[in-house]
Amino acid sequence: MMGGGFSLSSPFKGLFKKKVAPPPEVAVFSKVPENAEIIESYMIHNPFARVVIASLPDLGGEKSYFVEEVKLSPEEYEIFSKLMDIISVEIEPPSEEGVDPYKYVEGEAERLAEKYGLIKRIKRLGDESWMRIIYYLQRDLIGFGPLHVIMSDRMIEDISVNGVNVPIYIWHRKYESMPTNVRIIDERTLDNLLIKLTHIAQKHISTAFPILDAMLPTKDRLAATFRYEVSPKGSTFCIRRFREEPFSIVDLIELGTLDEMLAAYFWLLIENRMTMMIIGGTGAGKTSTLNALASLVKPSMKIVTVEEIPELMFPHDNWVQLVSRVSYGLGVSKIGEISLFDLVKVSLRYRPDYIIVGEIRGEEAFVLFQAMATGHGGLTTLHAESLEHAIKRLTSPPMNIAESYIPLVNVAIVQERVQLPRPKMGLTFGRRIREVYEVIDYGKYESIASWNPITDTFAHNFRRSEMLKKIAMKYGIGMESVLEELTRRALLLHDLLTRGVKNNVDVKTEITRYRLLNPFPAAAVRRRAA
Ligand SMILES: Nc1ncnc2c1ncn2[C@@H]1O[C@H](COP(=O)(O)OP(=O)(O)OP(=O)(O)O)[C@@H](O)[C@H]1O
Ligand SMILES: [Mg+2]
Repeated sequence: MMGGGFSLSSPFKGLFKKKVAPPPEVAVFSKVPENAEIIESYMIHNPFARVVIASLPDLGGEKSYFVEEVKLSPEEYEIFSKLMDIISVEIEPPSEEGVDPYKYVEGEAERLAEKYGLIKRIKRLGDESWMRIIYYLQRDLIGFGPLHVIMSDRMIEDISVNGVNVPIYIWHRKYESMPTNVRIIDERTLDNLLIKLTHIAQKHISTAFPILDAMLPTKDRLAATFRYEVSPKGSTFCIRRFREEPFSIVDLIELGTLDEMLAAYFWLLIENRMTMMIIGGTGAGKTSTLNALASLVKPSMKIVTVEEIPELMFPHDNWVQLVSRVSYGLGVSKIGEISLFDLVKVSLRYRPDYIIVGEIRGEEAFVLFQAMATGHGGLTTLHAESLEHAIKRLTSPPMNIAESYIPLVNVAIVQERVQLPRPKMGLTFGRRIREVYEVIDYGKYESIASWNPITDTFAHNFRRSEMLKKIAMKYGIGMESVLEELTRRALLLHDLLTRGVKNNVDVKTEITRYRLLNPFPAAAVRRRAA
């Protein structure tokens, strides 16, 4: 069965009833149960597919995500599969760049239907049938087959395919984690889908190299395992959808991840090359916060980023982006591998003001700390649930950071995915910076800000900030001037939010203008004297 839901009405429907073999079943799209309570439904690739989010009484009210696609009649399916075969062999690459691939497939389908004498049958079936056939050609040729609708839904953050014949799970921006009604039941379809994704990412997956971590050209992140090599339920993969427009610092304020004062604090610290580490669990939003913070680095400063997968994206010209490379050597041979460690080492030769490491896990941490010890600014993320765990990880193998090096991190930011006391922007959960610590010494951490889970607000303690004191001392100005500067910057950020200036490029322009008009600390000192 292709698709599982509603069908388009067509005046031509059923005109030609011929005995044709039914389509092979590669994926199951179970129906919305009669007793389900529909929470929301929306069209995707209108009018061919629809998403229904429903609460299921049989599962104690659990929510589930249903994909409903138009179905092909057996005759439509026959034409579709003939064209699939022909197109796979005969399609010619577009002669010019920038062609819409959907339109191109449609054009090629028409050309080849004509060439192979299918056009008469198609005309007899009618326009709506032809549109359905085109939809399935696009879905299976340039789309993601049974995953096409899920992959096209921008409300989805994560897609998890956990094996053959198990429901695909998603993480929905509004409803969090949910099972879908889609199960791929054909092993080959699943494997081919994974191979297709791997090719698109220009990587390799096979029985010999069954683990993959890659980035699709759409910047979606793909992690996968191949066939039964390391996953007893067959090929698995997980896709983290990329946001077209990464969150700016103003977006994060709007979402409530941090408030204006905290943002102003980070901004001032980053201008002064302080080092920060964002700590949190999977999907806590660490990389997004890192990206927003990186965009606060002064345009004149040089940034080198080091990542396993190129996730960072911020408007900065003086930026060298380095990405590690895996080796396809077998056994102990790691010929050709370029690790984060190698890249952090090389980054030092670029004389960066800031080294940003996407996520530290291994021995590269050691080099990063050495860089920070020699006066480079550093920003990074670390997977840990709390500051305590983070310090434990840092000081144990394979990172092995000496205790005396720990205070080289000036600020530790702990971020979490939390349940909100009341919905914000229609969401009942959110990402919050739960705690901001200044690292005074190993074992001595000053809490500078914390999130209140009852009021969904932040409490600050900037007067106790050693880092702000350091900045005051560096410029020979009073702490009051620094605190006033924080408030002014917070007001600017608030103003940007009220005016709807949220996009990274516009935020950067406004911040640059602020810097020009209010050079720090000169303007702050002048104002205080007046
Ligand atoms: N502050 C935020 N508010 C709402 N959604 C967010 C926020 N930050 C990130 N997200 C969303 O959460 C998902 C995970 O974000 P991100 O990749 O930044 O997390 P992470 O902690 O780095 O994850 P990982 O542990 O996989 O590295 C993304 O889909 C992103 O769009
Ligand atoms: Mg991350």
